[in-house]
Amino acid sequence: MKGIILAAGAGTRLYPASLPISKILLPVYNKPMIYYPLSVLMQARIRDILIITNPEDNENFKRVLGDGHQWGLNLSYAVQHVKRGIADAFIIGKDFIGKERCALILGDNIFYGNGFENILKKSLQNKTGATVFAYEVSDPERFGVVAFDKKGKAISLDEKPRNPKSNFAVTGLYFYDNQVVKLAQRLQPSYRGELEITDLNRLYLQKGQLHVSRLDRGFAWLDTGTHETVLQASNFVHTMQINQGVEIACLEEIALEKGFISRSQLLTRLKKSPKNNYYDYLKEQLQRKK
Ligand code: DAU
Repeated sequence: MKGIILAAGAGTRLYPASLPISKILLPVYNKPMIYYPLSVLMQARIRDILIITNPEDNENFKRVLGDGHQWGLNLSYAVQHVKRGIADAFIIGKDFIGKERCALILGDNIFYGNGFENILKKSLQNKTGATVFAYEVSDPERFGVVAFDKKGKAISLDEKPRNPKSNFAVTGLYFYDNQVVKLAQRLQPSYRGELEITDLNRLYLQKGQLHVSRLDRGFAWLDTGTHETVLQASNFVHTMQINQGVEIACLEEIALEKGFISRSQLLTRLKKSPKNNYYDYLKEQLQRKK
């Protein structure tokens, strides 16, 4: 399974804060925003990852993440020159995906909750079709919306509907089989000139091949598209980390836990790391997990 992080948006909604650098590299509390979606792919055990950026920020992403070897990953980069829509990721990523399945996560989506790894594991067992994740929200008109019949089967998908048929937003994490490459090429731009991810998912729905996994209310899903939501996300991460004594989206910790890197590799890295809470936390984890 390959993974793509779409991080090419101009972030104009966050101007002037995102003028110096892509909003996906701005901090959410103590880490760059991209650490959070990257941690999701790592939790799904996806190690071969393409990061799609805008032309201006491509070098910045490379500077921050490199080739990913420090986390046992294989990161590569591509550029989206024109904001052609989320489904464009599969046209840009065609060669990268090859004959494999592919996960896509939006660079500004944060997921956190108990049992998330099990949810991911279960979803990865769906070898054919697509899997999307639905989350109940109070403002569904801001998102792609999925509605269900009485038996809980998905029956419709609409992008930012004026009159939503349900309160279930489709989150920015998607798993696809290899048909996605061909299906994305068939899409026509929407009224706003974009290849819509919702249109792509609707093709799977029409084929009877769309799995919808509902994330329950104990789970946190944050789309950091505005100043308010970035602040909310930072406060959320801060509160959870303080209360639970854990680091959210700590890539080194996940890499160690999943066996992507060894203890000695991490130790070598920590010897060269600056002294601060983040690296102290990692040192503690190494001691504890001896
Ligand atoms: O967050 C979940 C929602 O994401 C879904 O419910 C919607 O169905 C989906 O369309 C999307 O809605 P947004 O309004 O959040 O999409 P936005 O245009 O803000 O793009 C999301 C991220 O993807 C953002 O960080 C920019 C990036 N992006 C977007 C487009 C359209 C790109 O890198 N390239 C693009 O062409």
